[in-house]
Amino acid sequence: MKKWNVAAIRASKGVEKLGCCTAYDACFARLADEAGVPIILVGDSMGMTVLGYETTLPVMMEQTLSAVAAVSRSVKEALVVGDLPFGSYQCGEDDAMKNAVACLKAGADAVKLEGASDRVISLIKRMTEAGIPVLAHVGMMPQCVNAYGGFKRQGKTREEAQAVIRDARRVAEAGAFAVTLECVPAELAAHITADLKIPTIGIGAGGVCDAQWLVMHDLLGLNENPPKFVKKYAELAGIVRNAFRAYVAEVKSGAFPG
Ligand code: KIV
Repeated sequence: MKKWNVAAIRASKGVEKLGCCTAYDACFARLADEAGVPIILVGDSMGMTVLGYETTLPVMMEQTLSAVAAVSRSVKEALVVGDLPFGSYQCGEDDAMKNAVACLKAGADAVKLEGASDRVISLIKRMTEAGIPVLAHVGMMPQCVNAYGGFKRQGKTREEAQAVIRDARRVAEAGAFAVTLECVPAELAAHITADLKIPTIGIGAGGVCDAQWLVMHDLLGLNENPPKFVKKYAELAGIVRNAFRAYVAEVKSGAFPG
């Protein structure tokens, strides 16, 4: 199979559903790539999954670049998307452009950013025109956690749903090659999926989207308390804990090294 590119991702709409996930290091990215995951997102969820924060907000651009470089070094076929962290595209367009360029220089094939305000729409247009493919993100935007007052499902009322539909149209018109729909009702995600020409990638947004995201630590069962919509495809936390336990016990008893 050859390398996924944004044209192939666009063309997958209505043809094939894509199971996409996050990864933050070379080891897991290689395994996901070998398994045929078409898009690997170096998500700012690393703030919570890898760095131990409560939210994605503390993630620094340098941490994103280092993870993007590690992931892209080991990926052969998946499209690698660098998630621009909070603060990297909020402080001026030129700054945002520099950070997006840095992401591609580190090895990403595209960048992801959250929102559909006039400011973000202008960025999506400028990045797209500069040859930087953009994956948009609407619905629940974790970088707005402080503005929401918690990680709150979006699009529940008629007005909120209209706002998410408008946001999804705006990012598509601005040139995004796909859009993430996070934590919105399934009927709303289905409506947007039918409405747009670009693929929708849902997370906590029901089964009708063109593709799905799962955060790697949730998918593999490394996170033992994942959100309710998650399906764990393995229970690695217990396996890993038991392996560490057995190792410590064997060193103590003298069984290892033999
Ligand atoms: O950072 C992240 O993990 C995300 C999800 C949508 C997959 O943005």
